Amino acid sequence: MITFGKLTLDMPFFQAPLSGYSDQPMRLLALEYGAPLVFSGLMLDKSALYPKVLEKPLYVIGKHEHPIGGQLLGNEPEMMGRAAGRLEEFGYDLIDLNFACPVPKVIMKERGGFLLTQPGRVIEIIREVRKAISCPLILKLRIGYDHSELGREEFWQICAAASGEGVDGLVVHGRSVVQRYRESADWEVIGRVKSRFPGMTVIGSGDVYKAEDVVERLKDYPVDGVLIARGAIGNPWIFPEARALMEGKPKPEAPSLAEQGGIMRRHFEMILEQYPARKAIPYFRKFTVGYCKRHPQRKKVMMELLTAKTAEQVLVGIRKWYGNVLKKKKS
Ligand SMILES: Cc1cc2nc3c(=O)[nH]c(=O)nc-3n(C[C@H](O)[C@H](O)[C@H](O)COP(=O)(O)O)c2cc1C
Repeated sequence: MITFGKLTLDMPFFQAPLSGYSDQPMRLLALEYGAPLVFSGLMLDKSALYPKVLEKPLYVIGKHEHPIGGQLLGNEPEMMGRAAGRLEEFGYDLIDLNFACPVPKVIMKERGGFLLTQPGRVIEIIREVRKAISCPLILKLRIGYDHSELGREEFWQICAAASGEGVDGLVVHGRSVVQRYRESADWEVIGRVKSRFPGMTVIGSGDVYKAEDVVERLKDYPVDGVLIARGAIGNPWIFPEARALMEGKPKPEAPSLAEQGGIMRRHFEMILEQYPARKAIPYFRKFTVGYCKRHPQRKKVMMELLTAKTAEQVLVGIRKWYGNVLKKKKS
């Protein structure tokens, strides 16, 4: 169980915000497969003020798409407050502020991970946002801008401020901003956040690729929960598997090829409903790589699906390698 203020999740894991992936089709599949919370991708504060942006597949909220978190990127406290208020009104159940993104163009604009070097500014942002919303507020952090002493000190300052300013949870990715995705995530530091701030809900992130990783991180480190990020791409089965293991049950049998193909087809069809084919086909390729990992002839399947040029070729490829796929489970 995880508690973020008034929001309680029945399991200690959830699906991460994943820009470029976690739009509505991925979120709907994750919720259907038992993710207790999903996120849309990162949104620039100013964008949240435009209704048209909120109607895009990356941010729109379906009727059955709750609980859902919205994540904001920005560095102006007043604008972040207004944007957070707008997201809450639009229907988001939780607001997450991103102080973690390592992308150079984000850092150059002094947003995302850059703000780990500006604890004073982070506190101002937290205060404005806290005033503007009544739903739970969490922060996404990395363990410092870099591994310098100053970097670590600023990180601890931000954790302490969060705990004094009414933040309901910290999601901590165990790498520094300059480290980006290199080397392994440092779960020792993530665990130390919980030990230093035992009243704060602390979620760890980094290198969680399979259901067993969720259980092991929870066993080995004093965290309240685990974020499932890359491990969920083309792999909604990670959620029922983690649920079963958390309940002390055996891991469910691997999905049959027919089930895998059925989900791939549905995922692709949902993407086709929301994007023109010229975008949908390259977009779906990013998930194909994840889906194919479970296929015994992974390389051949990937070769065929990643070179498909039309929607028909994608669907024929899925049928060829996964057989007569299952009918839709739910509409
Ligand atoms: C393609 C991609 C997109 C991501 N987008 C976001 C994002 O929008 N917001 C965010 O806070 N983290 C984002 N992350 C970071 C993940 O949420 C997570 O913290 C990170 O991938 C570490 O977990 P993992 O090693 O288990 O994947 C992204 C990561 C990847 C690989």
